[in-house]
Amino acid sequence: MKKPILVANWKNSPPSLDEAKDLLKELNKKAPLFKKLSLFVAPPFPYLSEVGARSKKIGSLAAQDMAAVSKSPVTGSVSADILKSFGVRLVIVGHSERRALGETSLQVSEKTKTALKAGIVPVVCVGETERDHEGEYFEFLREQIKDSLAGLNKQAVSSAFIAYEPVWAIGKSGKEALASADLAQAVIFIRKVLSDLYGRKTAEEVSILYGGSVDHTNAETLVKEGGIKGFLVGRASLKPKVMESIAGALIAK
Ligand code: PGA
Repeated sequence: MKKPILVANWKNSPPSLDEAKDLLKELNKKAPLFKKLSLFVAPPFPYLSEVGARSKKIGSLAAQDMAAVSKSPVTGSVSADILKSFGVRLVIVGHSERRALGETSLQVSEKTKTALKAGIVPVVCVGETERDHEGEYFEFLREQIKDSLAGLNKQAVSSAFIAYEPVWAIGKSGKEALASADLAQAVIFIRKVLSDLYGRKTAEEVSILYGGSVDHTNAETLVKEGGIKGFLVGRASLKPKVMESIAGALIAK
């Protein structure tokens, strides 16, 4: 069985390269622990080189976004080829904070295809902005998954990761994260959607992660009861002690 997955999404932190180096120094002290899982560190772009060089003992390098097309010139964007040349192994696509800036599911599917072609594992983020009592968010989720994977074949889909990140649960306190029973239900639903679209075998092969206020208070329950393969962690990924505890929960499962 593959190792559990932990993606550290640093977003636009830490505010300086020196602080990023300090953070890595702390994480490296726990290298034997982190080596027991597949840890991916996704720093801001300018830190890629330094983080790549300093995270070899704990895991692999990841990116937080990527250009949809590799060759045509686009000011301000970073292509899959560039990421590859820095040793990036995984890329987050369709994060809700990028979707909020206007990124569409169609663009997410293009990025997903481009990443796979370049040999970079895409983590396709999906999640409803709010939950209603009628369960309409399930339909929203179905459409978002379908559109974000549009044009991909079974093999491509089975190589991608899906991160379920309900937008309303991101950036909150650990107590406000999704309840593990609700996570388990969402994971079953996501697999059902994948099964309807790509068949049961493919649906079972896809690694599903959870993201949204994961920390030391909820990681254990979420991983034990949520039916997930790992976590996509934001704020808590900047705290070495909390990362240690999340990693411990993933390994203990
Ligand atoms: P959070 O962020 O862990 O700070 O809620 C998760 C994410 O945005 O990926």
